[in-house]
Amino acid sequence: MTNKIKFPKDFLWGAATASYQIEGAWDKYGKGESTWDRFAHTPGRIRNNDTGDVATDHYRLWKKDIGLMKKLGLKAYRFSVSWPRILPMGRGKVNQKGVDFYSRLVDGLLAADITPFATLYHWDLPQTLEDEGGWPVRSTAEAFVEYTDVVTRALGDRVKSWATHNEPAVVAWLGYEMGVHAPGKKDVTLGMKAAHHLLLSHGRAVPVIHRNSPNSEAGIVLNISWKVPASKSVMDMESARLDDGRWFRWFSDPLYTRGYPADMTEHFMKLGALSNGFDFVKTGDMQAIATPTDFMGLNYYGRNLHRANTPENEPQIDFLLPKTPEHWTDMDWENYPDGLTGSLGRVYFDYLPRRIYISENGASYSTPPDENGKVPDVHRIHYLKTHIAAAHRAIQAGVPLAGYFVWSLMDNFEWSFGYGQRFGIIWVDFETRERILKDSAKWYKSVIRKNGF
Ligand code: FCB
Repeated sequence: MTNKIKFPKDFLWGAATASYQIEGAWDKYGKGESTWDRFAHTPGRIRNNDTGDVATDHYRLWKKDIGLMKKLGLKAYRFSVSWPRILPMGRGKVNQKGVDFYSRLVDGLLAADITPFATLYHWDLPQTLEDEGGWPVRSTAEAFVEYTDVVTRALGDRVKSWATHNEPAVVAWLGYEMGVHAPGKKDVTLGMKAAHHLLLSHGRAVPVIHRNSPNSEAGIVLNISWKVPASKSVMDMESARLDDGRWFRWFSDPLYTRGYPADMTEHFMKLGALSNGFDFVKTGDMQAIATPTDFMGLNYYGRNLHRANTPENEPQIDFLLPKTPEHWTDMDWENYPDGLTGSLGRVYFDYLPRRIYISENGASYSTPPDENGKVPDVHRIHYLKTHIAAAHRAIQAGVPLAGYFVWSLMDNFEWSFGYGQRFGIIWVDFETRERILKDSAKWYKSVIRKNGF
């Protein structure tokens, strides 16, 4: 591969996690129930009926985990705050124990010279709010602003980087339209309303963050994948466009003052998602959603090739990579690093965010410990290496990329896939909760030390 890859001075090398995926202690220390607790406790929702009840037990083992981060030389750690741990009923009474937990975590990170990156919402909504209608109702957006106020008052003196939401598209579409994530609803109209209130809550929270956390940066994390038509057929191109519109532009356009994209509005109308038009959009909403932010976080995992099932018979000109572990992860996601370079370039030159973080990138491979207790996860190293090189190419092309966060610091509860998919650079034994640095973690450590490879 490439000779030498050197990143800019001060580039932030990090790793990411999310509260429900790692913490455990789901009903302890004053925490309220979340939609993911409810969903995972419903038989048949999660593969193997796994739950996040204990997960990696990070709530108890957080000190040890900071020790491991320090060993890796991480410069930054992206974690999420569990809303029902802070406000068990979603609003109103604060659970001080929950606030203290994150406060200790942040102090521990700072003492280890690791910059905390907090995400306010990584999918664990207080169940009480879901019972009132969840994201499809406006009052949830209002509750989110109250929650943001509580968290940023408590931590805003020490946390200087805040993301409001993680992947609102996934919450809206997978949670409310397709029903494969919590709360498991299946209704296009609910998905559409959820998307709007997620965006609105983001826009309304940004000024609160800046007020309570002086000199901090605030942004949002969107998922992006590289969508390509497999041929020049109109149907293939249309399929790629609509998929990108639904998963990315529906969110990015309003965030950057463009409002909801017209082509997608037409598409969603056809789907019946706008049966009462935009009656859920109130005066001032679109301005609030477009409140300027300091960064855009992008989660990138791979590419989708669109071959629509049509009679057009255009010769196929693009193909998926061969189905080998080098090119395909255990999630059956393609390892396609050029799509990362492309996505970074596209987002920067199209929307001009002040800076970009790769807030998640990584691969699921289940490589277990060998007889010497080592985890030789060579395919993950290959995935990370090719993507970090791809990120570097984007910087060379002028993209203000400020950091890279591996998903994930450690193996954890992978949503509807349960513990069957392992994304960690640290192995977790889910019986004993023992942690082992995988070879990828050791490799990443050297990347951080050399600021490249
Ligand atoms: C992203 C999620 C993250 C993790 C990875 C694999 O969509 O943000 O929690 O599950 O996918």
